[in-house]
Amino acid sequence: MRDVAVVGIGMTSFGELWRTPLRSLWAEAALAALDDAGLDSVDLITIGCMSSGLFTGQEHLASLLADELGMAGVPAARVESACASGGLAVRTGFAEVASGLSDTVLVTGVEKMTDVDGADSTYALGTAADAEWEGFHGITFPGLYAMLARVHMQQYGTTREQLAMVAVKNHANGLLNRHAQYHLKVDVEGVLGSTLVADPLRLFDCSPVTDGAAAVVLTTVERARELQPDRPPVVITGSGLATDTITIANRGSLAALNAVKLAGERAYAMAGRTPEDIHLAEVHDCFTIAEIMATEALGFFEPGQGGPAVENGLTALGGKIPVNTSGGLKSKGHPVGATGVAQVFEITNQLRGEAGQRQVEGARIGMAQNMGGSGGSSVVHILEVV
Ligand code: COA
Repeated sequence: MRDVAVVGIGMTSFGELWRTPLRSLWAEAALAALDDAGLDSVDLITIGCMSSGLFTGQEHLASLLADELGMAGVPAARVESACASGGLAVRTGFAEVASGLSDTVLVTGVEKMTDVDGADSTYALGTAADAEWEGFHGITFPGLYAMLARVHMQQYGTTREQLAMVAVKNHANGLLNRHAQYHLKVDVEGVLGSTLVADPLRLFDCSPVTDGAAAVVLTTVERARELQPDRPPVVITGSGLATDTITIANRGSLAALNAVKLAGERAYAMAGRTPEDIHLAEVHDCFTIAEIMATEALGFFEPGQGGPAVENGLTALGGKIPVNTSGGLKSKGHPVGATGVAQVFEITNQLRGEAGQRQVEGARIGMAQNMGGSGGSSVVHILEVV
């Protein structure tokens, strides 16, 4: 396998962007990444997108978006793994460059979710659950994660306040990110006083519905050094992909995310790294409980210790392992197909030392963990400055 570097990054602001069509959002992020890389053509475009059909009535994105960039003729492929579609697009681009099939890949993710009303966006997101065994009975993603939260609280004593502290931390980080959907400070009382969505989860435990796009350019380390001789390459040293049962009813335990654990173990094995080596991580906090469970599944903390870790500031900026310095899905926003690519944007930015006020001092090794549905799939990447 060839070594693969991130040589360009770009993203739009995330938010309710009613005036901007999907193709324009995507092109803004793609052009920013190409510009950052110093390239005007690539061998392949990958597109992570969960459900442009249900959200906007538009499928066949490969053709639409290559054309939008004036690149009709270039190979392009859309990949889908629910909210992990962006991570899967990164993994696909990584495999293309590592294998030698492509020398340069424009990896992108996009979702335009706010053109439909709340009921329709909830339906579209719900198609990532088991349609027969979950969706048919009316369960939504807040409902599924509420059940995971209840089990975690019962099994480990995770507290309602600890869940709230994830949101408080991520909103504090999001205040420092100009791309974030929400720039607001919230405290524990504010989270606990927000509208109940699915007991015990409240509005401020949930990621929002978001429009946005992100892009990264991947190439070989040698080409990265040619393109950017003054910039130490950010290399993808580990990539892990895994699945779990789609319906949570079929799982041995609801207190753990097995797909995240397996994807993490595969990424650590490829990179020759352990959890202790990771300096910062972007994890998939679609709900506050998901961040706590992800930090346990990735081995940063023992099972049951994810709640105390956030309470003790271990995952805050300046803590043992800062988690979601971008603001995470909670504050930055969660345009589902774009999220996995935006996580790699944040880690690359941090490893370049260009994250401004939210910079993690001395960050050289970072992780991005993206997840589909209620943990039915996960993608993990480890990135390092070499
Ligand atoms: N966090 C903080 N504030 C939020 C928010 C969130 N997650 N979602 C909405 N808001 C705010 C809006 O900005 C708006 O504020 P305003 O009145 O000051 O303008 C207000 O709450 C109402 O917004 P609205 O869009 O009407 O909310 P809603 O009740 O329709 O939706 C949720 C709220 C939580 C149901 C929705 O955001 C949701 O479904 N989130 C989960 C998304 C999801 O499942 N993703 C996939 C994960 S696997």
